[in-house]
Amino acid sequence: MDNFSFNDLKGKLVVMPGGTGALGISLATAFAACGAKLAIIGRDKERAENLAAKLKQKYWVDVRGYAVDVTNMEALKEVKMEVFEQLGLVDILVNIVGGNIEGATTNAEKWEEQGLNFAQIKPDALSEVFEKNFKACWNTAQLFSVDMIAKNKGVILNVTSIAALQPLTKVGAYSAAKAALESHTKWLSNYLASENIRVNSLAPGFFLTNQNEFLLKKPDGSFTERGEKIISRTPLKRLGSAEDFQGAALWMCSDLASFLTGSTIVVDGGVSNFGGI
Ligand SMILES: NC(=O)c1ccc[n+]([C@@H]2O[C@H](COP(=O)([O-])OP(=O)(O)OC[C@H]3O[C@@H](n4cnc5c(N)ncnc54)[C@H](O)[C@@H]3O)[C@@H](O)[C@H]2O)c1
Repeated sequence: MDNFSFNDLKGKLVVMPGGTGALGISLATAFAACGAKLAIIGRDKERAENLAAKLKQKYWVDVRGYAVDVTNMEALKEVKMEVFEQLGLVDILVNIVGGNIEGATTNAEKWEEQGLNFAQIKPDALSEVFEKNFKACWNTAQLFSVDMIAKNKGVILNVTSIAALQPLTKVGAYSAAKAALESHTKWLSNYLASENIRVNSLAPGFFLTNQNEFLLKKPDGSFTERGEKIISRTPLKRLGSAEDFQGAALWMCSDLASFLTGSTIVVDGGVSNFGGI
């Protein structure tokens, strides 16, 4: 092979649950720029449709926005039918749906600190984090892999987190839910390999977005102690920006990564690989 490009993504149908979020918009833009068709799924219809209209106008590709709670299988089935009627069979599923919630987060950096509240985290908060990060991706893979099996080709990319791979303070529930998704990714990669479907995960490090702003920035815009600590321990000495993982995601979904399955690619500025000494 001597023609290295993302041209194989042109005309492919990419379904992107969570595509209306901070990182999702960046990935949706990257796929549209490569000429892929897109079904962007968020929770807010207007937001999804506005993003679709913007990408369509800029890149001249067929992009549509849908709104559904993807943890609700029955509602998701209806959206899948709409996607099929409007755009066809799915080639690539990018699960960038997920996120943390404040109610499932402990309030102390260290166990010695006052106000440790692990015991106060409500079961509902734990369930919500697992639904958002794990069940959401399980559901979409169950439904959309059927299209890929029909084509005998496909790619599933689950966006997890470095929190799934190593313990971080505060985010025990989120870490566990993402670790479950990591495990499921590997299991599914084995299960679907005979159908020529590749399944991988991309684990971002610390990116400054809505979901973690309350942990990393103070109301006056300066960094919290945690934000400062992260930057000081990141070899590339900054937080990630939404554009920082576009290239890795495109590569993982393109035929350039045709022998990649069951793998996790970490995009984190080196933070998970730094011993601190
Ligand atoms: N931002 C970071 O630093 C960071 C780091 C590691 C991993 N991640 C992961 O990357 C992904 C994207 O993060 P983000 O910062 O863009 O988050 P975000 O909160 O901006 O976006 C999340 C998106 O998921 C959608 N969503 C949530 N629950 C849903 C549901 N039940 N049904 C349908 N849609 C739903 C929201 O509408 C939104 O579009 C998440 O999975 C997150 O856990 C983010």
